[in-house]
Amino acid sequence: MKGLKNIFIGTLFISAFLFACNSNQQVLKTQTPSVAVDTTPEMKDMKAYDKFSPKVEALLNKMTIEEKIGQLNLLSPGGAVTGAVVSEDVERKIKEGKVGGIFGIKGAARIHQAQKIAVEQSRLKIPILIGLDVIHGHRTVFPIPLALSCTWDMELIENSARLAAREATADGLMWTFSPMVDIARDPRWGRIAEGAGEDPFLGSAIARAMVKGYQGDDFKSPTTMLACVKHFANYGAAEGGRDYATADMSRVKMFNEYLPPFKAAVDAGVGSIMTAFNVVDYVPASANSDLYTDILRKRWGFDGLVVTDYTAVNEMIKHGMGDLQEVSKRSLNAGIDMDMIGEGFLTTLKKSLDEGMVAEADIRQACGRILRAKELLGLFDDPYLYGDTLRAKKEILSAEQQAFARKAAGESFVLLKNENNVLPLSKNKKIALIGPLADSRRNMMGTWSVSGDHAKSVTVIEGVKSAMENSGLLQYAKGANISDDPAFAKRVNAFGQEIVIDERTPDQMITEAVNIANQSEVIVAVMGEAADMSGESSSLAHIGLQPSQRKLLEALKKTGKPIVLVLYNGRPMTLGWESENMDAILDVWFGGIQGGNAIGDVLFGTVNPGGKLTTSFPVHVGQVPVYHSMLSSGRPHAGGEKYNKFQSNYLDISNDPLYHFGYGLSYTSFGYSGITLSGNTLTPDNEITASVTVTNTGKRSGAEVVQLYIRDLVGSISRPVKELKGFEKIILSPGESKTVSFKITPELLKFYNSQLEHVWEPGEFKLMIGGSSSDTKNIEFTLKK
Ligand code: BGC
Repeated sequence: MKGLKNIFIGTLFISAFLFACNSNQQVLKTQTPSVAVDTTPEMKDMKAYDKFSPKVEALLNKMTIEEKIGQLNLLSPGGAVTGAVVSEDVERKIKEGKVGGIFGIKGAARIHQAQKIAVEQSRLKIPILIGLDVIHGHRTVFPIPLALSCTWDMELIENSARLAAREATADGLMWTFSPMVDIARDPRWGRIAEGAGEDPFLGSAIARAMVKGYQGDDFKSPTTMLACVKHFANYGAAEGGRDYATADMSRVKMFNEYLPPFKAAVDAGVGSIMTAFNVVDYVPASANSDLYTDILRKRWGFDGLVVTDYTAVNEMIKHGMGDLQEVSKRSLNAGIDMDMIGEGFLTTLKKSLDEGMVAEADIRQACGRILRAKELLGLFDDPYLYGDTLRAKKEILSAEQQAFARKAAGESFVLLKNENNVLPLSKNKKIALIGPLADSRRNMMGTWSVSGDHAKSVTVIEGVKSAMENSGLLQYAKGANISDDPAFAKRVNAFGQEIVIDERTPDQMITEAVNIANQSEVIVAVMGEAADMSGESSSLAHIGLQPSQRKLLEALKKTGKPIVLVLYNGRPMTLGWESENMDAILDVWFGGIQGGNAIGDVLFGTVNPGGKLTTSFPVHVGQVPVYHSMLSSGRPHAGGEKYNKFQSNYLDISNDPLYHFGYGLSYTSFGYSGITLSGNTLTPDNEITASVTVTNTGKRSGAEVVQLYIRDLVGSISRPVKELKGFEKIILSPGESKTVSFKITPELLKFYNSQLEHVWEPGEFKLMIGGSSSDTKNIEFTLKK
């Protein structure tokens, strides 16, 4: 009964969505849009099973039920572990045909060894899928994903995935658990570091670029790999920013803001998708047939493989969904194919089959999808296709990879402040390089650099030294611990010594730093977070600089020397004091293996920073969530510091973020002309073009990200005050101008309405173009039916 009820609710919900996806209709604002109900015959056919290739069908026909269930099992013999459970006895299980895939092992030799066991010692000789979290580069670690998103450079982002795939496949891997496309608007949530920030339009573009980069045009190429978009769905909306916590939102929000990057990845042909740990509509994602069967398979036509997150099936017991047999059954019935780590499928599905709780056809189907992925990847033709020691020698950490890592890092930095053009620095200055991250090799790569060798990363001190080319004077002092709190340090140091508490007292360190600062002309303070202060299970309530570091900055400030803050962070931080007291702030995120060199490039002006924020930086954590595409309240506040009684504002602080979405400075400046429109009226049969001319008004060549925002002024539902709808990154020499044009079509103006219909609505629109979401030229146009 319970199962039936679920299917019924799911069908209703999804039929609305089907209608939405397939409808091109426009809805008049005066008209009540029709409610989509379950009338489509296709919708009722919940069990339309996939057709597989003759090879896969033949294999499925040979397999026992135990062997089919075995394929649904994904294990990790250890290495990269993100949960309490580690798989046991993996070798025996491979021989017995109880393993479909493994992850967490590295190196072609080890990987081939595992594959050899599968193809030589298991009855049907089925090769195994071998995956890993290749998140931002593989051995050559690139900037963290949040940093890469700040480049707004889709070609560069695609290349980052392409190059990561080259290294990873040379190393024997064929499946990456990336990209993470969860929209994230809560800087307390540590995994904000792993995604593309707060915006669904940009997030979708990045999702497409990453999938294309990893998978290329040919799955069977030994240099491309299967991507896995994650975590479906809503994982970034964890309550209170606490990882794994409940995420709950209206479906309108979900469809308009949280699902688009997943849809974009599916449309780009992503081969696999990972579940989320959280509930969606109170049902854990890993048992949610609305998500997996209805939205993903039926509406979006996804025919790849669905894998759970780490022990997510077992965790449903704690969600209160039943015992292991029950939750495993629910998961399979919801459309999940592969069970990561927890072995719920392996140990209970046969029993559930015997008891009539699951259908053999569903097990066959899940198994077929896993086999299809193996076939796609070419594993049946050559199980050792991936992993090439010669290529690994040539390509891993190659000069090409390193050069790309350096370029990507430089492009990802965001210049938040540059008073009196203190940056770029001249090389012959006396520089005091101060701070706990200036000489910390262990912290350069950031979260999820599981295959990176920290010993190979370039530190800031090395990067600055080499950029100075023996001119000027460079003196260094640590000045402070990242944190003085040993209990906090222990938590952060779960994967290694990132926070090292010095033997000297904080005061002794500060005294040394101040002495050096007094001898210098400029202070470069390298501060912020340790690498694992962001990332999985790294939620924070305080998102400002740790007190130890603030104390150091206050002491440095008293020297009266100009201070450049080089900030390491995997999340937006609260920087109110710093924004007032520092002369310059360069946000360098975690720049990866070449981060130190890229910092040298930017500090001394070889590279002009052009990154723009993809998440808003709050003034205070109490403002969270704060993002550019909010709805207006009925009592909106116009922004700014002034408090207005009975308006939507705080008694104690302003509503505005400290740094807005899309913001970022350059060593040059840009001027924007007014917007010209090719026409003021848009109809279903025409498009209009909005253009601005951007001029480099400064003295250096530089990159600018021209951003298009639109507000639908009146709608059948309340519409965001602005939504990103286009962007273009341009490079201009001093004095050069370029006209940037955006096409506006009804399609671009579509959204999901209350009935989850994907519609555009006629009416007035405000169009905004500028170099930041908070600084735009504006114009209006009309959309007519
Ligand atoms: C994370 C996933 C990751 C998996 C395997 C989980 O804890 O949530 O994003 O892919 O571990 O490492």
